Amino acid sequence: MPNPKTLISEDEIKARVDVLASQISLDYADKGELVLVGVLKGAFIFLADLSRRLSIPRYIEFIAVSSYEHGSVRSGAVRLVMDVRRSIEGKHVLVVEDIVDTGHTIHYLINMLKSRKPASVRTCALLHKEHKTEVDVHVDYLGFKIGDEWVVGYGLDYAEKDRTLPYIGVIDPTD
Ligand code: PRP
Repeated sequence: MPNPKTLISEDEIKARVDVLASQISLDYADKGELVLVGVLKGAFIFLADLSRRLSIPRYIEFIAVSSYEHGSVRSGAVRLVMDVRRSIEGKHVLVVEDIVDTGHTIHYLINMLKSRKPASVRTCALLHKEHKTEVDVHVDYLGFKIGDEWVVGYGLDYAEKDRTLPYIGVIDPTD
């Protein structure tokens, strides 16, 4: 199979991650330690790059969720399968996602984390399929808006394939 067609190149991702990291570092300067909560699995590469470019005190947590599916269609219901290890009470929290699609995952996570009395909860996503989003979610730090394409690479997979591609590519799953 040929490599997926490039949608966002490695250089474009790097430049955008630099901008996001600078903005986050500025916004959270003097606010104490920032808790970066990466959503597994997709966010692991973005989180690794973003976190290393921040200039503020921070630590890393991971969370994992699972979406209920009817056939290949997501129902919108989300279930927590792995939680953070430390309390986030009184902490500034930034949820880091590879992609916001329907928005159900990030919507669930924001509500769940807010119920734990953090100082704040904001969101950072590399990609947002704005036209597919079904719930009212706001991405505070966004890399790129994309259309309704099947994207892989930089953490995103298709049936666990292409997750470690260094760029964001587009595939046609019917191929
Ligand atoms: C993807 C992505 C987000 C979620 C977004 O995860 O990483 O967590 O879907 O979709 P939504 O906005 O429609 O809720 P996926 O379920 O593919 O799992 P993975 O990250 O482990 O590949």
